Amino acid sequence: MDKIRNDSGFIPELCLIAMIDDEIIGYILLSKALIGKNEGLALGPLAVKHSYQRKEIGKKLIGHGLKKAKGYRFEWVALTGGDYYTQFGFESALKYGIVIDDNHPENPYLKIKFLNTNREVSGNMRFCDSFYDENGDLL
Ligand SMILES: CC(C)(COP(=O)(O)OP(=O)(O)OC[C@H]1O[C@@H](n2cnc3c(N)ncnc32)[C@H](O)[C@@H]1OP(=O)(O)O)[C@@H](O)C(=O)NCCC(=O)NCCS
Repeated sequence: MDKIRNDSGFIPELCLIAMIDDEIIGYILLSKALIGKNEGLALGPLAVKHSYQRKEIGKKLIGHGLKKAKGYRFEWVALTGGDYYTQFGFESALKYGIVIDDNHPENPYLKIKFLNTNREVSGNMRFCDSFYDENGDLL
């Protein structure tokens, strides 16, 4: 997390936590990302503490995160993840010609949600620097 916090793509207002009493039970991070030259947001990590899962905490974190992202006028949010995200309107990014790299194994899991009517986004997706290891591979 420290690496992300020091990244130029880190937006403190888009790092949200869920708390019950004094306990952090979930968090979500949205950070700057590029598709081609178009700037938007990458969602992740997202996690809810095991004992609090399936209580709609994840759903609320995503709801708040997307609302804030829209408020900041970002046009899209992308992520790599499973079917969980389709209920929030995330679609396959491949459908729009968006990939991480040609033949990247995560391409089938790359998803995007557009926050307005513009769908003119395609190309390679670049997460912020702290998402890559020293060899340039996505962590
Ligand atoms: C995935 C995760 C963030 C979901 O958060 P959550 O608060 O447990 O989920 P919610 O209660 O908001 O789920 C809402 C609905 O999404 C669906 N859902 C929940 N977890 C799911 C999963 N892992 N896969 C597919 N659908 C899921 C269910 O339909 C659920 O409704 P239901 O409980 O009434 O059936 C949480 O389980 C988690 O932290 N998992 C471990 C870390 C992780 O996998 N992070 C995501 C990386 S891509």
